[in-house]
Amino acid sequence: MVRTKIIGTGSAVPEKILANSDLEKLVDTSDEWITTRTGIKTRHIATADDYTSTLATRAAENALAMAGVAPEELDLIVVATVTPDFPFPATSCLVQNNLKATKAAAFDISAACSGFLYGLTLVDQCIKTGTAKKALVVGAEVLSRIVDWSDRNTCCLFGDGAGAVVVEAGAGEAGILSSHIHSDGSYWELLHQPGCGSRNPCSQKTLDEQLVYITMQGNEVFKLAVRAMEDVAQEVLAANGLTTTDIDLFISHQANRRIIDAIGKRLGLAEEQVYVNLERYGNTSSASIPIALDEANRAGRIKGGDVVLFDAFGGGLTWGATLLRW
Ligand code: UT7
Repeated sequence: MVRTKIIGTGSAVPEKILANSDLEKLVDTSDEWITTRTGIKTRHIATADDYTSTLATRAAENALAMAGVAPEELDLIVVATVTPDFPFPATSCLVQNNLKATKAAAFDISAACSGFLYGLTLVDQCIKTGTAKKALVVGAEVLSRIVDWSDRNTCCLFGDGAGAVVVEAGAGEAGILSSHIHSDGSYWELLHQPGCGSRNPCSQKTLDEQLVYITMQGNEVFKLAVRAMEDVAQEVLAANGLTTTDIDLFISHQANRRIIDAIGKRLGLAEEQVYVNLERYGNTSSASIPIALDEANRAGRIKGGDVVLFDAFGGGLTWGATLLRW
């Protein structure tokens, strides 16, 4: 049986760091509120020279170097993002050009914070059906460009960055066991960017009405996220005849420490099974899982044969889980 194996991980974040104390100077907030309500302490913020494509390219280069794969060997490049460089062409095409991955087909996926898992799910199918032998999946965001820096409800939450994996077709036990993705568009309004699409095109009016920024009904999203991420984690485990005690590392979307803790508790996971790094990055949307994976991998937290569970949730609403054996 062909399995999709992750053979390289990489990540990249902008150099500039914004601490909670810096946000205290911008809006009516406090380090204490942000820390206790979210777990976030610092986040990386793009400078004018950082774009989604440049962060994605750096993350991809790191993943390719680890995998020992040359860019021209790639058959497919998928970039998950809600903050592309341009409405079109796709950011993945810019990454393809930067890497000189001349053979690869490239396209973007828009599934908000679940984007990386959506991309991985799709690429897994392409690998299994033989459409691609080697592929790159990237989650990359410059959310700071669509955050309202005068809105304390959102500006403390997000960060910029990119994470990438190189995958290839392999035989044996290691690789993706299965991936399960879901959506419920009836909740689209809970988390969205109202302006600069076809409904509210970019205009002075869109700017004046502040429609260009992320809007979120945080506590509604919170409740739905905990339930959906627990359900889909159980779904992927059951599909593979495994239980939560089989998980060596649980890497969930990094939006809020309280969400991760609540899911961990519901799943009965011990602290050492759960990877958390949001205190240093904030919520980087589609980049959060691949950044966390790369950190955990480079820190030696994942050994051959380990069972790793990815669990994501985001605007759409979208959610999903991927189970893999390392
Ligand atoms: O990544 C995709 C999925 N996204 C998520 O999973 C995010 C899910 N939601 C959350 O993480 C949390 O709901 C938030 C961190 C966004 C908010 O935490 P909360 O405990 O749900 O707070 P809340 O929205 O219910 O607000 C409580 C209070 C409000 O004041 P009032 O109306 O009770 O007087 C807010 O105005 O906290 C206030 N508040 C703040 N206070 C100080 C909101 N933001 C801040 C802030 N500093 N930065």
